[in-house]
Amino acid sequence: MKKAYVTRLVPQKALDMLEIECQMTVNPYDRVLQKEELVSAAYDAEGLLCLLTDQIDADLLDKLSRLKVVANCAVGYDNIDIPACTARGVAVSNTPGVLTETTADMAWALLMAAARRVVEADRYVRDGKFKAWAPMLLLGQEINHRVLGVIGMGRIGKAVARRAAGFRMTVFYHDAYKMTREEEQALGVEYKEMKDLLREADFISLHVPLNEQTRHLIAAQELKLMKKTAYLINTSRGPVIDEKALVKALQDGELAGAALDVYEEEPSLAPGLAELQNVTLAPHTASATVDTRTRMAVMAAENLLAGLKGKRMPNLVNPEVKLKS
Ligand code: GLV
Repeated sequence: MKKAYVTRLVPQKALDMLEIECQMTVNPYDRVLQKEELVSAAYDAEGLLCLLTDQIDADLLDKLSRLKVVANCAVGYDNIDIPACTARGVAVSNTPGVLTETTADMAWALLMAAARRVVEADRYVRDGKFKAWAPMLLLGQEINHRVLGVIGMGRIGKAVARRAAGFRMTVFYHDAYKMTREEEQALGVEYKEMKDLLREADFISLHVPLNEQTRHLIAAQELKLMKKTAYLINTSRGPVIDEKALVKALQDGELAGAALDVYEEEPSLAPGLAELQNVTLAPHTASATVDTRTRMAVMAAENLLAGLKGKRMPNLVNPEVKLKS
């Protein structure tokens, strides 16, 4: 039986699938493994089921020389050096599609929590400060009939845009690819240049993958363009925002608030971020529902097993790879 290593405990359904078809070992600790630990635990593995917290780089690949397949249990795969995998004949897969709606739900949960100050309100009540209804207490911003700006119109961006119809919002989007007029009409969205979207939106939600084009896509200049009453929501990847610049912009009142699920140096936060009252913070949990995390793990397991059998992984991200024999 082929050997596979699973870098963190994932939903049992996926482990059951792997156990039947390969010789599987799971990281026994409830934490991310250091590189040296991963090397000694997975030294003889041909397959790796890994997470976005594992850095799969050239050095690791050279040390795990028997590796043929890497199944990332995430849709984003910026944690994996794809050219290095391809060069070494290692096939890589991700988990697209199964977390789209769940992530869009979380982007909206963050948007609404920020605009209506839900986290502050919860703290206020728990702290025993709620004495009576008050006309000026915890006033937030309207969501309905406002303008939503979606940056990155892939699967998740579209799912976020679709939800805006129920709030009677105007939806602008920006993406490297402009949709056809018919697609835009069907979704009820209008294309805007980046600068115009930044200037006109009341809520901006980020849905781009992290790559060299999108690193610090939102930096000091972009934050300056935003309305002082606007909110920035990020459920994509932390480095898409220059987090230090965001802290400064929030301190200076250049935008009303931010709601973040992801951070530039995860799990660390930029100095000053956690002290701000106008930010809502989540620990990278946009896809964290029982069903979605199960679907993701099962999908990763299916990919791993296909790869180990020498078949094409259903969600292969480096089709140019020439598989190791
Ligand atoms: C989560 O961030 C993912 O990429 O699946």
